Amino acid sequence: MSDAVLRTRKVRKEFGTGAGRVRAVDDIDLEIAAGETVAVMGPSGCGKSTLLHLLGGLQRPTGGEIELGGRRVDTMSERGLARLRRDRIGFVFQAFHLMPELTAVENVEMPALLAGRSPRAARTAALELLDRTGLADRAGHLPSALSGGQRQRVAVARALCAEPLVVLADEPTGNLDSAATTEILRLFDRLHRTGQTLVIVTHDARIAGIADRILSMRDGALVDQTLLAEAA
Ligand SMILES: Nc1ncnc2c1ncn2[C@@H]1O[C@H](COP(=O)(O)OP(=O)(O)O)[C@@H](O)[C@H]1O
Ligand SMILES: [Mg+2]
Repeated sequence: MSDAVLRTRKVRKEFGTGAGRVRAVDDIDLEIAAGETVAVMGPSGCGKSTLLHLLGGLQRPTGGEIELGGRRVDTMSERGLARLRRDRIGFVFQAFHLMPELTAVENVEMPALLAGRSPRAARTAALELLDRTGLADRAGHLPSALSGGQRQRVAVARALCAEPLVVLADEPTGNLDSAATTEILRLFDRLHRTGQTLVIVTHDARIAGIADRILSMRDGALVDQTLLAEAA
C-alpha cells in the first residue's frame, strides 16, 4: 500500500433503471496521495460531482471499492459514513451552503463542535482559521453581510475546522467573479503548500493550474491524466 489518502477500484455509480439508466461514474481507478492537490475537469454532466460525492461518502457506489485513510467507505454503515463525513472530510460547494442565521465564526466552528471539541477549543480553532483566510475582522458578520468571495472563504475555513484528511470542493468558484476567484485561488494554493490534500472540481484553468495533477473526465470515465510536475 502506498501513502494514498483516497483510493478507488473500479468505482461505479448508476442512476435509474432499464432504458433510463445512466452510468454517471464508470469504473474509475484512482489514487490520491497525502498532500496532493488534484483538479477534476470535464464537460457538464460527465460525472464530476457524482465522483466527488462517492469519494466523500455523500452517495454510495453501485459497484467497486473506495478507501479513505485506509478504511473502506463503500461498505460502511450509515452511521459510519456520517461520522466519516463529519470527522475526516471537508466539503466546499459552489453555493457556499453557509447557515444564514449563524455568524462567520459560528459557521466555521460548527464541524469542530459536531466532532466533539469543546466550545472553547472550537472557537479558538475557528478564529485562527478565519485569521488564516483573511477574515479575522468578519468573524461576527452574518453571511448576508459578506461578499461572495468572503462567503466562500468562510466555507473553506469551515471545511478545515475539523482537520479533515481531505477537502473536496465542487466548483468552488462557479458562483464567483474574477476577483473573488483570485481570493479562493490564493487560499487553495496556500492550503496546498501546507500539505492539505485537496480534490477540486473546476472549470477554471487558473484553479486547475495550482494542482499537481489534472484528471479529465468524459462520460463518467477518466480520459487523461496530466502530470503537471512532469510537464514542467
Ligand atoms: N441523483 C441523480 N439521479 C439521476 N441522475 C443523476 C443524478 N445525479 C447525477 N445524475 C446524472 O449523472 C450524470 C453525471 O452528473 P454529475 O455528476 O452531476 O455531472 P457533472 O458534475 O460533471 O456536471 C448526468 O447524466 C446526470 O444527469
Ligand atoms: Mg457538477
